[in-house]
Amino acid sequence: MKKQEWNERVELIEKALVEHLGEKTALSSTLCDSMKYSLTAGGKRLRPILLMAAADAVGARGLDFMPVACAMEMIHTYSLIHDDLPAMDNDDYRRGKLTNHKLYGDGMAVLAGDALLTQAFEVILRQENVAPEVLVQVVREISIAAGPNGMVGGQAIDLESENKRIPMEELKKLHMGKTGALFRASLRCGAILGGADSEQLEKLTTYAESFGLAFQITDDILDVIGDEAEIGKPVGSDERNNKSTYVTLTSLETAQKLAQEAVDEGVAALDGFGEEAVFLQDLLKSMLNRKK
Ligand code: IPE
Ligand code: IPE
Ligand code: MG
Ligand code: MG
Ligand code: MG
Repeated sequence: MKKQEWNERVELIEKALVEHLGEKTALSSTLCDSMKYSLTAGGKRLRPILLMAAADAVGARGLDFMPVACAMEMIHTYSLIHDDLPAMDNDDYRRGKLTNHKLYGDGMAVLAGDALLTQAFEVILRQENVAPEVLVQVVREISIAAGPNGMVGGQAIDLESENKRIPMEELKKLHMGKTGALFRASLRCGAILGGADSEQLEKLTTYAESFGLAFQITDDILDVIGDEAEIGKPVGSDERNNKSTYVTLTSLETAQKLAQEAVDEGVAALDGFGEEAVFLQDLLKSMLNRKK
């Protein structure tokens, strides 16, 4: 996929997100506005892009799976709204705009997150031209990834790790949960929807796990050396909350080295795929230099 094609996809995703959210479908129009505010605030849209690219990589047409791709982004957006709450990271900016609770209040922000999570599963069921048993497998992947053994579980370890030094193994588990799980589910669901065989699915899973790790290590690095205007969220949030991160447990240099290792591993996992996976390989390499 070329840069222009990627931009086009992001545009299509953003259009589909608004369509799937629906206008005034909530009982409360404030709730509706609050959900839409965060969902349309921008963001890199990496999870839907990865889902579609995994389907492309196994010879299917990624764009055919837009509803499931949008559902992943809705779940991700919910996780960010809750992550920014005063009871969690207490951050005022996200995606270059005020955080949801700053505008709508803590209670409405909690509800907007709840609503995006729940509606995501309805949106998955709007997916057409996929066998029901495949869709059941997709729902299973996504619900496990978003739950206590995935994203929410990782967020819980993250909360408990505040103000203490946790072992490296625990930090890895934390990252695999809070960030890795949704990336893993995105890539696996794209592969499953695209009809991947078990070997392809395994390789894309290895890629996904490396991607998640490299991504969160660079997130930790950007929290220290990033440019606030460019990343659209406050730098120094981890330090303020006394978090355990790759930077605090190792050093900036070691964190960069570990991110490089994760990238190499993920790129190598897709070596057998040929042309169709070059986009995924390049995207992972670009994580090392990302500024946002
Ligand atoms: C931020 O995710 C939260 C983490 C998992 C570290 P992204 O960096 O993908 O956020 P957006 O979607 O681009 O805003
Ligand atoms: C949170 O990680 C990831 C999720 C929202 C699940 P962070 O707290 O590091 O994410 P940012 O840095 O606020 O985006
Ligand atoms: Mg957090
Ligand atoms: Mg945070
Ligand atoms: Mg962070």
